[in-house]
Amino acid sequence: MKLSSFLLQLTVFVLSCLAFSLANAGNVTYDHRSLIINGQRKLLISAAIHYPRSVPAMWPGLVQTAKKGGVDVIETYVFWNGHELSPGNYYFGGRYDLVKFVKIVQEAGLYLILRIGPFVAAEWNFGGVPVWLHYVPGTVFRTDNEPFKHYMEKFTTFIVNLMKQEKLFASQGGPIILAQVENEYGYYESAYGEAGKRYAMWAASMAVSQNIGVPWIMCQQFDAPDTVIDTCNSFYCDQFKPLSPNKPKIWTENWPGWFKTFGSRDPHRPPEDVAFSVARFFQKGGSVQNYYMYHGGTNFGRTSGGPFITTSYDYDAPIDEYGLPRFPKWGHLKELHGAIKLCEHALLNGEPTHMSLGPSQEADVYTDSTGACAAFISNTDEKNDKTVEFRNASYHLPAWSVSILPDCKNVVFNTAKVRAQTTVVEMVAEDLQPSVASPDKGMKALKWEIFVEKVGVWGEADFIKNGFVDHINTTKDITDYLWYTTSIFVSENEAFLKKGSQPVLFIESKGHALHAFVNEKLEASASGNGTNPPFKFKKPVSLKAGKNEIALLSMTVGLQNAGSFYEWVGAGLTSVKIEGFNNGTVDLSSNAWTYKIGLQGEHLGLYKSDGMDNVNWLSTPEPPKEQPLTWYKAIVDAPPGDEPIGLDMIHMGKGLAWLNGEEIGRYWPWKSSVHDKCVKECDYRGKFMPDKCFTGCGEPTQRWYHIPRSWFKPSGNILVIFEEKGGDPTKISFSRRKTSGVCADVAEDYPSFELEPEHENGNVGTKNNAAILLNCPKHTRISTVKFASFGTPTGTCGSYSKGECHDPKSISVVEKMCLNKNECAIELTEENFSKVLCPDATKKLAVEAVCS
Ligand code: GAL
Repeated sequence: MKLSSFLLQLTVFVLSCLAFSLANAGNVTYDHRSLIINGQRKLLISAAIHYPRSVPAMWPGLVQTAKKGGVDVIETYVFWNGHELSPGNYYFGGRYDLVKFVKIVQEAGLYLILRIGPFVAAEWNFGGVPVWLHYVPGTVFRTDNEPFKHYMEKFTTFIVNLMKQEKLFASQGGPIILAQVENEYGYYESAYGEAGKRYAMWAASMAVSQNIGVPWIMCQQFDAPDTVIDTCNSFYCDQFKPLSPNKPKIWTENWPGWFKTFGSRDPHRPPEDVAFSVARFFQKGGSVQNYYMYHGGTNFGRTSGGPFITTSYDYDAPIDEYGLPRFPKWGHLKELHGAIKLCEHALLNGEPTHMSLGPSQEADVYTDSTGACAAFISNTDEKNDKTVEFRNASYHLPAWSVSILPDCKNVVFNTAKVRAQTTVVEMVAEDLQPSVASPDKGMKALKWEIFVEKVGVWGEADFIKNGFVDHINTTKDITDYLWYTTSIFVSENEAFLKKGSQPVLFIESKGHALHAFVNEKLEASASGNGTNPPFKFKKPVSLKAGKNEIALLSMTVGLQNAGSFYEWVGAGLTSVKIEGFNNGTVDLSSNAWTYKIGLQGEHLGLYKSDGMDNVNWLSTPEPPKEQPLTWYKAIVDAPPGDEPIGLDMIHMGKGLAWLNGEEIGRYWPWKSSVHDKCVKECDYRGKFMPDKCFTGCGEPTQRWYHIPRSWFKPSGNILVIFEEKGGDPTKISFSRRKTSGVCADVAEDYPSFELEPEHENGNVGTKNNAAILLNCPKHTRISTVKFASFGTPTGTCGSYSKGECHDPKSISVVEKMCLNKNECAIELTEENFSKVLCPDATKKLAVEAVCS
């Protein structure tokens, strides 16, 4: 064979191999503009859903709701301490079935971003790092430290190999397009000195050496090496620039709400502002945007961190804790995603031109070689609406908003104009029903069994020691609870005994919470909070002549999850004194203290559902109320229907709850202060911070505790509660989370186009009239139209009222189109409504309807 013909054949062979591999493997590369998947540029909307924060039965639904919301990618952390229970002992069952989760995402046709960490923060216990690692001698987390690096590399490799084995990386045809190592280390690196820098570089190269065939990212890593992509986490990332001009602009955490801590208020981020931040990001050249969280879910069991993070991790996310789309946020963002996708081709293939349209108004215009043109026009003025001129047309821009023009002419979406429906969501109480399967079936009243914990050391003491030990070093977090007990002898000569007055107990603790018992009586409870875990308190207590038993139950409420050297913070008592003796103050701090780790009920496994523990439970005709340290058990039926379930704990104190041995989590209906600041309506305009829009002042931070439907059996469900300080178990109830109504209000001037994906590349189809779309939950219909007014109605869902201008036909028009329908659309046309009415006003249609 001639050399030239051989070379030709070789070339053909090589090219065909290349073509084959390109077609079959999801090759993920990137340039300055975007990720390139299988040779195609991508503009990606990503949604964080953390698999252990829901249950496998919810995963397909959550992923589908995300997909329906216009999401392309699911993003999750990997939760090291949920997987590696002790060194080398791995768990991937139940909520921790990572492979199953990734495959569900794959089957839905979505991509996945795997943030391995394995330090993750995430308001998750100890930031995801196993507590046992803190006790491997010589370990310091997240620095150039041999044991830490050893275990981190071992776990990272384990996860990577598991994903490879299941062919889950895009390079193998799987859905994983990016992987993350570490998490926001840039903020803490300098606290670790030179070793911090060495660690960050080591983490990057350790990751890259795993050969996963897709790029690695590091978020908020301000010195990331060129081998990884540095990404942004913030409420806004439009101004973010990756370190290198060859890297695409990726936003790993856009927080569409915020987390809650027990005792605090409920933060909300308005949908208009979330949409604004996303639109600004894509306006300014962004290519991947992830909502952290899209579904926050639940911190089941003792998985929450903080300390003080609530069991709910709802996050005010587009899908609520219970798995229902949150309206209008979910709907508004869905429309935003549709609008952005209409611009995708021009955005990714066009050269941007920037135009100033005023002091705080600008346009970014993307025109590609085919002539397709897309534009984003923004008004970043926090107060004033503005009308701007753009390409010989004028556009009205509400304050703090972005308009999207997929053809550089027609506005299909403005971030401040919410036309998506909102819903009326209720928690409908359902009394606990005695189970038809329970031994006392047929009985009307629920029967409770109880187990009362001994105050102080039960069984044998774990150890006695002079002075205090650190709480976490002692429990190693196998339990929240640690007893510190001692005694004090009071002479008959003490003046307070004679006067009948009370000495004062003065306690200081590193955190997190405490119940103080004197002679078996609960005398005081105290705690720190999410901003300041340590606490001290003084409380007058009753002492008798002779020996007095002091039993202090110290508790953790989730271990710290971030910060430099956070694993050393510790918890527990630091000082115990009693003031008011004849000789002044008695300091008990260096007394001999007797310690007991955990509760007897935990030791006996009272929460388990195997029915083996019947000997320990005591049947009671009437369960005791307001009694500390009491376990309660009842056998109940599942509430009817298919709505999600919350356990209403408003009449209880603080403790833990289980159903059928599954851990519901910590409950604590601790009320925030009525004197705190809350808002009735949140002004979306201006930069958002978590303290901007609180609700729930004077209410429990968390009243309801999610019990996934899949944990219920048809009957014979074992509900177990451990109550620490006292409550009324007869008032515990289930609640069904029910969408009972829908509302929407849309003005005539709201943009309205067909936003179907078929209209790609700037072809936005025909302009429709503004319209209202109402959609009741599955299996329900609009049964009543409670309110409808075309004109100048005011108020919000639940409080609409007619304005000066009102078309009397409004109700009948809406009824005709919507009654008895699951969904309906009402256009603001002349056929439907009287447009001559109050001609100078911009009219709107507001509707509230009942779904049943
Ligand atoms: C980020 C962190 C996340 C999460 C978030 C707040 O700093 O990377 O893991 O903790 O803050 O919800």
